Amino acid sequence: MSGDSGYEDRGNNDRSVTGEPVDHMGDPVPAGGRAERIEGASAFLIGEAMTGGYGGGADILHDCTIAVNPGEIAVIVGPNGAGKSTAMKAVFGMLNLRKGRVVLDGEDITHLTPQARVQKGMGFVPQTSNIFTSMTVEENLEMGAYTRRDDFRPTMEQVYDLFPILREKRHQAAGELSGGQRQQVAVGRALMTKPKVLMLDEPTAGVSPIVMDELFDRIIEVSRTGIPILMVEQNARQALEIADRGYVLVQGANAHTGTGKDLLADDEVRRSFLGG
Ligand SMILES: Nc1ncnc2c1ncn2[C@@H]1O[C@H](COP(=O)(O)OP(=O)(O)OP(=O)(O)O)[C@@H](O)[C@H]1O
Ligand SMILES: [Mg+2]
Repeated sequence: MSGDSGYEDRGNNDRSVTGEPVDHMGDPVPAGGRAERIEGASAFLIGEAMTGGYGGGADILHDCTIAVNPGEIAVIVGPNGAGKSTAMKAVFGMLNLRKGRVVLDGEDITHLTPQARVQKGMGFVPQTSNIFTSMTVEENLEMGAYTRRDDFRPTMEQVYDLFPILREKRHQAAGELSGGQRQQVAVGRALMTKPKVLMLDEPTAGVSPIVMDELFDRIIEVSRTGIPILMVEQNARQALEIADRGYVLVQGANAHTGTGKDLLADDEVRRSFLGG
């Protein structure tokens, strides 16, 4: 892991994140777009210029690009229905893209199934139904490891070290846990695959501000172990504070892109998406 900067100054200091404004792939930049080149072939995980929708329906994503690099936390924010979850699902292979591609660690994985992507090192925690409520906490974690052939106990210990409450409640049904604890189970389950990149869709949904802070701290901790984090967050301001990269999506397109710090300082972003 590079650097051991504190919470306050993490993010926003990655030189690769700042650079010449360009319109990626030569396409016009959406109105209001900052068009900073913070993605590209060099990104560890990139959903590039993704266009597509569900089944044969209308396109939900329009030339949408999201990316993350090792050591980074990338955050996607935007209004309800903007396509944030859809963009995550597209990167995970749950959507047929009409255009664009998904590249992981230099490999084009656009046509791989979600299962194959997990094998390649993608951990994905969806927004809903992300745990098995009737199974115990430990069984949920074991489910995360079901494709592994090696000894997963050490990983489970790491998950319990990260989320001590889960160790305490390991024999309890996951459905009996609080919202914040369930989210820990969901993240823990994804970590059991030993992912190379972790994708989280609203990991703090429905939890109190204190629990949100706690979860963010744990997510930062995971990122410091070298696992890049790509997450959708409704708590835009707080999330951008810890973001090395931020994406504001509007109607399935990139509306604003920059470091978390840049976006927090951007008048238009503040007015339109952060409540002034
Ligand atoms: N399974 C689906 N089938 C068809 N359309 C869908 C499906 N899931 C989402 N949509 C549509 O895609 C659009 C974007 O939804 P999406 O869930 O990606 O938004 P979001 O930004 O994640 O919103 P939220 O902040 O509420 O989670 C919406 O118009 C929604 O109705
Ligand atoms: Mg969503």
